[in-house]
Amino acid sequence: MEVSELSFENIILLGFMGSGKSSVGKRLAKSLKWDFIDTDAAIEEISGMSVQEIFRKHGETRFRSEEEVLVKRLQDSRHYVIATGGGTVLNSGNWELLSQIGLMVSLYASLDTILERIGNRNDRPLMKASHEEIERLWVDRQPIYNQADLVIDTTDIGIDDVVREILQKIEGGFENVARG
Ligand code: S3P
Repeated sequence: MEVSELSFENIILLGFMGSGKSSVGKRLAKSLKWDFIDTDAAIEEISGMSVQEIFRKHGETRFRSEEEVLVKRLQDSRHYVIATGGGTVLNSGNWELLSQIGLMVSLYASLDTILERIGNRNDRPLMKASHEEIERLWVDRQPIYNQADLVIDTTDIGIDDVVREILQKIEGGFENVARG
């Protein structure tokens, strides 16, 4: 697809931890010949600390403020696929800024799928919570993620299929509906 045909300048991927934002984002960027940025990775690079370390040493509030600063820096981005952290868009200012610069694409996955994908990994501070707390987080966040321009159910499909589905929806003139 010709990049010039698109009516938006960036694609923002959002959704719960383990929904595939980074993996999908990298491949989607490659397909579009756009650049890719992962907000967690960018924060780690800028701060010289892993997300885990920021949470451990300085707390979640500090991480959220790093996220906010980074999102502000993204406002002149063009032709980027931006994979956000699962909590980035919960901040209404971040949502507003990101939705002004690109098409908001939410990657949905059922809670069971999320737990299957990342339940055993220990690199996400919020996944160390109890099952009940993770479930509450997942339930509470769905209405926010569902406000995206496009919601893709990734529960039973692989990364390439998710990328294909996003591209098909965009090619189908979706952006004209979403962005008038
Ligand atoms: C978070 C998700 C993580 C990371 C941080 C907090 C969240 O990113 O930003 O651990 O609040 O959901 P991923 O969604 O890429 O795992």
